[in-house]
Amino acid sequence: MPPFERNWMLAVAICAILASIEAPLRLVLHYKSSFLIESVLTAIFLVDLIFNLRESKTASSPANGRAPRQRKMGWLLVDLLAAIPFGILPIPAAFQLLRLVKVARVGQLIARWRGQVVLHLGFFRLGSFLFWLALLTHWIACAWLALRGITPDFSDATHYLRAVYWSVTTLATVGYGDITPTSNAQMVFAIGVMIIGAGVYGFAIANVANILANIDPAKVRYREMVERLTVFMNYRSIPPELQRRILDYNAYLWEKRLGYDESSTIAGLPPNLKTEVLLFLNGDIIERVPFFRGASQELIRAVALEMHPVVFTPGDYIMRAGEPGHEMYFVSRGAVEVVSADETKIYATLGPGDFFGEMALLFDQPRVAGARAVSYCDLYLLEKETFNRILARFPAFAAHIAEVVDKRKDLNQRG
Ligand code: CMP
Repeated sequence: MPPFERNWMLAVAICAILASIEAPLRLVLHYKSSFLIESVLTAIFLVDLIFNLRESKTASSPANGRAPRQRKMGWLLVDLLAAIPFGILPIPAAFQLLRLVKVARVGQLIARWRGQVVLHLGFFRLGSFLFWLALLTHWIACAWLALRGITPDFSDATHYLRAVYWSVTTLATVGYGDITPTSNAQMVFAIGVMIIGAGVYGFAIANVANILANIDPAKVRYREMVERLTVFMNYRSIPPELQRRILDYNAYLWEKRLGYDESSTIAGLPPNLKTEVLLFLNGDIIERVPFFRGASQELIRAVALEMHPVVFTPGDYIMRAGEPGHEMYFVSRGAVEVVSADETKIYATLGPGDFFGEMALLFDQPRVAGARAVSYCDLYLLEKETFNRILARFPAFAAHIAEVVDKRKDLNQRG
């Protein structure tokens, strides 16, 4: 949705909320509407009506799809009713309530937002529930006031406060009984509100607890996974030290990526979108490797699309000297020690932006050295075939690698 349209929808929603709070209150407290406010609201709703009329003729919005005719007509009726300035027309005051229908647009906006909210969906759901509940409480309080009538023994504010008090206690199924119905109409109304209250209470118990428990779904998933893992490890009597390392690894994954397995999470995306996501996700390593900074977009794309993230825990051997090599690595985070075959000598300590494991692939030989993770390491793995393909396509990249390899060979021979 373009920003202007979004802001406009928000402005209309705020006006609709104001109108839906103020119109019933004005009706029951019998005060005159402000000409200015009435005119501003009418103007905004009128512009919105024209805006929506035009839109419904031209295109269907992505959120609605090709909305059926009746639905479009329904929305236009809502906009039309809200745009009529009942407050300043010489007609019965009750007509002013017709403006309340515009609140349906608030519902529409909330539904759209809900589809777009990425983080804190739980808070959002809770917020929208509380919003509707507050509005319902207000309407019920106004209706109760209308049935009770305004007497001179209290001020308007006290009348309203007492009505809200009755509305809350009845909706919450508390019902202290200090304000009780005194006529048949009030009694019927109270029965209705009690029935609604039972529904709201049931809904709140069932949903709010659920919403609160799932306010952070990733954390819930993580906790469940850790519980499952702990049960499994205890059942299979995994040694405590190994258990600690497994849990540490999961905690690290959680901290860095909210425990998401990136490749499976994006596997279902269409190819173009997947490319963009991968470019974004692997962008940090591209930025860290000095050579990539000046490289062509084409090379960056080729590399970014083929790299797979892997994590190593402190002390893990990523490769050992003499093994055959099938992949090379780029370091994104953490430190890796390159060690001699007998593990007595440390050739180098590599950090973010460095790469290793390329020699075995280039010369089709066993690994000349071993590599060990010093800390938690986020690495990106590039498989042999992909590496060779990229070298063949991008001679500058191949030359850069060859340069680094020469230096390393020199160093090792000297050392
Ligand atoms: P490879 O032989 O495939 O596996 C071990 C890797 O260690 C090797 O490729 C190089 O990438 C890396 N390596 C070897 N010697 C050094 C060095 N002196 N400095 C940094 N890295 C090295």
